[in-house]
Amino acid sequence: MARAKTSLIAALAVFAFLFMHQASSLAQDKQTPKTGGSVAKSSAPQASGSSQYAGADACKTCHADEYASWEKSPHWKTTLNTRGGPSKQGCEACHGAAASHVADPSDTSKLFLFEKASAKQINARCLECHASGTEHMHAINSLHAKNDVSCTSCHSPHHAKEAQFLLVKRQPELCYSCHLQQRAQFAMPFHHRVNEGMIQCTDCHNPHGTERPHQLRASSAQDAVCFTCHADKQGPFVFEHEVVKVEGCESCHTPHGSPNPHMLKVSNVNLLCLQCHTTSFANAPGAPSFHNQAAQFQACTLCHTQIHGSNFDKDFFK
Ligand code: HEC
Ligand code: HEC
Ligand code: HEC
Ligand code: HEC
Ligand code: HEC
Ligand code: HEC
Ligand code: HEC
Ligand code: HEC
Ligand code: HEC
Ligand code: HEC
Repeated sequence: MARAKTSLIAALAVFAFLFMHQASSLAQDKQTPKTGGSVAKSSAPQASGSSQYAGADACKTCHADEYASWEKSPHWKTTLNTRGGPSKQGCEACHGAAASHVADPSDTSKLFLFEKASAKQINARCLECHASGTEHMHAINSLHAKNDVSCTSCHSPHHAKEAQFLLVKRQPELCYSCHLQQRAQFAMPFHHRVNEGMIQCTDCHNPHGTERPHQLRASSAQDAVCFTCHADKQGPFVFEHEVVKVEGCESCHTPHGSPNPHMLKVSNVNLLCLQCHTTSFANAPGAPSFHNQAAQFQACTLCHTQIHGSNFDKDFFK
């Protein structure tokens, strides 16, 4: 941190120029940072006084690194939000009114300190601006939020390792750092190529929560997310394989990875089908008695090829 008085004056000269448009719209409170001491007096706690705010340019001299990272991030755009006022702009939109801190740096009592805040407080802070839009509609009740995973578990406004989306790590490593089991699943011989970078966890899941189980996304038609990419399985078919529509893809596939080349839940296809197609299973007809499992009838999909549904044959032969 450079706190020399000379650089303070130099910096303020630059900022007087850079932030002119901003200063003019917030004239009263933006003028003051020049003399740290005088701000304290004018900002003696007033219930709603905007003079409790010092403006981002007042922070730069002492917090050059944080200023630089902020300036490079999309958050600088908050300075354009003159309608929201100083409480929605710059550093103080996240850190709270800081005029008293500028006057006396050792006074951090009015600042919002992320390191000390609870996950709930952090989420609420960020959602002051990010709650709108479908992507974040369920953020407050997401499984992440409910389990104390906060915005800053995945995002860092100042120390992001990924410029895009301010992520602390890139996917999938970000997710694996907490979801160890899933790392093992995507290491299976047959898997959606997440580790290879072809698909992302967030193609199927929304880390900010959804109304579906497992924070799963939906297709554009509000159906299973799988149809976004596997549209051919959607139908509608003249002869539906009821289970595809009713119980979903997961009744036969493990979406992360599997030892089976088609990512089936069970390594042998006949064992999968016979979980339902036995005489004891109520909804599905038992496989006919001529289906001798010691012979060629093991490879069910050799004959029942259109297993996701057919327009021509009730037994999915074609
Ligand atoms: C005159 C120098 C100075 C200015 C100007 C200044 N700060 Fe600080 N700031 C400090 C110092 C010194 C500390 C460490 C205080 C302590 O820990 O007692 C600090 C601490 C902080 C912290 C807490 C950091 C932590 O590690 O928890 C935040 C957040 C912060 N400042 C934000 C701001 C913001 C926002 C502004 C502008 C509105 C600002 N500061 C302006 C000197 C300054
Ligand atoms: C979008 C919200 C947000 C904005 C805007 C923001 N900060 Fe921060 N700040 C954070 C978070 C969150 C942390 C905790 C560290 C992290 O996750 O990056 C933090 C940490 C800090 C710290 C503690 C030291 C550190 O680097 O971790 C200082 C000092 C600080 N911010 C100053 C500033 C200043 C000065 C500005 C404006 C130039 C600013 N912040 C803008 C959210 C914000
Ligand atoms: C479990 C990790 C995780 C958590 C927790 C998380 N995010 Fe995200 N966020 C991501 C990832 C990953 C992306 C990248 C977008 C994508 O691939 O869908 C993202 C994208 C975003 C975006 C930009 C994309 C958009 O459409 O809005 C914003 C804004 C955002 N997150 C804000 C938040 C806020 C606010 C919180 C806290 C309420 C939060 N995030 C919590 C992982 C997370
Ligand atoms: C004062 C309002 C405000 C607050 C508070 C705020 N943000 Fe933002 N955030 C914005 C704006 C504005 C953008 C830029 C949107 C754009 O580019 O369209 C943004 C963008 C983002 C992005 C997207 C970055 C990208 O590369 O597209 C992420 C991620 C994000 N914010 C996370 C957070 C987190 C985490 C917090 C809490 C620590 C937070 N924000 C607090 C206003 C805010
Ligand atoms: C192709 C879509 C898809 C991708 C990509 C994907 N998931 Fe999933 N994930 C699912 C589905 C579907 C379920 C629900 C499984 C079920 O109901 O049996 C699920 C379930 C989960 C669960 C809940 C526990 C479990 O295993 O049932 C976690 C945690 C999870 N996924 C994390 C991840 C992570 C981390 C990544 C990236 C490394 C990822 N997922 C990538 C589709 C996907
Ligand atoms: C900081 C740790 C952490 C990170 C990072 C993280 N998660 Fe989670 N995640 C959790 C916790 C804790 C839960 C709730 C407990 C559980 O179900 O495992 C959870 C739950 C989930 C669930 C719902 C699981 C279920 O049982 O229904 C999914 C899906 C998920 N995370 C996906 C992701 C994805 C995708 C990423 C990366 C973008 C990610 N997570 C990053 C900690 C994390
Ligand atoms: C973002 C696009 C995308 C989504 C969403 C998606 N997939 Fe896939 N899927 C692929 C791609 C691409 C492949 C090709 C595999 C490869 O070669 O990497 C694939 C392969 C598969 C395979 C193996 C095909 C084979 O070779 O036998 C199955 C089974 C599968 N997906 C099921 C699902 C299920 C179930 C879901 C929903 C939970 C789903 N997919 C969601 C893109 C997607
Ligand atoms: C009744 C069990 C079952 C259900 C439910 C099911 N599948 Fe399949 N799926 C299979 C079997 C068996 C195969 C292997 C077919 C073969 O051997 O030719 C397969 C193969 C696939 C393949 C790769 C071969 C191809 O036809 O493209 C994809 C992709 C796929 N399924 C996606 C899905 C999706 C998406 C869903 C949900 C809409 C789904 N499956 C639901 C049993 C099922
Ligand atoms: C999760 C349970 C389940 C699994 C697994 C399953 N099915 Fe089905 N299957 C059903 C149900 C339910 C029906 C619809 C019965 C009806 O319409 O009366 C059905 C219908 C059928 C039919 C049409 C029967 C008729 O009405 O003529 C065939 C053929 C069939 N399944 C073959 C298979 C094959 C081959 C597999 C393995 C690749 C398989 N099924 C896996 C539940 C399942
Ligand atoms: C060699 C080809 C072949 C193989 C392999 C095969 N089937 Fe069939 N399947 C048939 C024929 C032929 C029928 C009778 C169609 C009819 O009577 O209209 C049939 C009918 C069915 C029916 C419908 C019964 C009903 O009452 O409508 C089910 C269910 C079925 N098979 C399940 C399976 C299962 C499960 C497997 C794997 C264990 C399998 N099939 C393997 C040829 C085959």
